[in-house]
Amino acid sequence: MKAIGFERHLPVDHPEAFRAFDLPFPEPGPHDLRVAVEAVSVNPVDTKVRAPKAVDPDAAENRVTASPKVLGFDAVGVVDAVGDAVSRFRPGDRVFYAGDIGRAGSNAEYQLVDEALVGHAPRSIEAAGAAALPLTALTAWETLFDRLGLSPEGADAGTPVLLIGGAGGVGSVAIQLARAAGLKVIATASRAESRQWCRDLGADEVVDHFGDLPAQLAERGIHEVPAIACFNDLDRHYPAMAALVAPQGRLASIVGNKAPLPFQELRDKSVGFFWEYMFTRPRFDTPDKHRQGEILDRVATMIDEGRLRSTRTQTLGAINVDNLRAAHRLLEGGRMIGKLTLAGFDGA
Ligand SMILES: NC(=O)c1ccc[n+]([C@@H]2O[C@H](COP(=O)([O-])OP(=O)(O)OC[C@H]3O[C@@H](n4cnc5c(N)ncnc54)[C@H](OP(=O)(O)O)[C@@H]3O)[C@@H](O)[C@H]2O)c1
Repeated sequence: MKAIGFERHLPVDHPEAFRAFDLPFPEPGPHDLRVAVEAVSVNPVDTKVRAPKAVDPDAAENRVTASPKVLGFDAVGVVDAVGDAVSRFRPGDRVFYAGDIGRAGSNAEYQLVDEALVGHAPRSIEAAGAAALPLTALTAWETLFDRLGLSPEGADAGTPVLLIGGAGGVGSVAIQLARAAGLKVIATASRAESRQWCRDLGADEVVDHFGDLPAQLAERGIHEVPAIACFNDLDRHYPAMAALVAPQGRLASIVGNKAPLPFQELRDKSVGFFWEYMFTRPRFDTPDKHRQGEILDRVATMIDEGRLRSTRTQTLGAINVDNLRAAHRLLEGGRMIGKLTLAGFDGA
């Protein structure tokens, strides 16, 4: 089968940063689905895994351990075959999933994925729209409801939540999920078009993440926030998060820190700090990993009921070397609004 991958970690414009390969047809294990991939999205994690690990392109650190490395952690496709122990899916089902960062990704004609991590794809939108969703929807859902402990059912309606980095892939789903849960959504964005996008998705207030966040919230009569999620640049935003979080509130971050975080500041307020990593459940094979399949089924239902919309803002064309390179280049610019997707595998 055709797949696009790489043998060395290289800068995005290096001719060998993306290459087409012919790989063996994958055989499903007992819990696996084999999926014929129809559409994919690209996430910052793809660019981070692909990025050079040393300046010299020929350095040993830039050689991948299992060659070639196939990326892609957002897919929509049709189940082609199932393992002996699979119970939730049959051949012919259309599915969507992020999958497992430890396995071969979706930039291939066929991909294996554990059924526990898979949802039934929404019926009301095309594959290229649905491919925008799985990784970011899982991250947004787990952040809001599993880490910040908010209720997806509306029990916390009216509670303010601050979402830092509102217009990006994760923020664009988080705004909608928070809004659907009845929360008061304060999102951040720095440009006219990204601010407008946050409002269109349902944010009640939009403030600038390059400005003084506590001062901008104070202007709106908001002096503390019980739940704050950081989707970008934790080092920059941590002081404002610590200042704004309400006593006994919660902070969550999907991005890491470079400098140490002064956690002492949270102690007097008995604030909890939570990390969210979407690949934790697949990577550690946690007993509740099937939650990811359940979350994706709920997301698909919300799409089909018109309570959530796809965050796709661009489709770059077929899944091939040139379009994947263009997608990585755009993601590396750090200015995405919503998501980009690629549809139809041409493997060139
Ligand atoms: N832990 C996890 O499981 C997980 C999952 C998904 C993503 N991530 C990570 O989370 C980050 C965001 O992912 P994404 O897919 O949402 O990325 P993205 O779509 O590339 O994010 C782009 C957005 O980031 C905003 N932004 C840029 N600089 C910012 C800053 N200094 N502070 C706040 N916002 C800023 C931009 O808003 P403006 O243009 O308005 O400035 C833009 O809309 C990435 O680092 C990614 O690797 C982690």
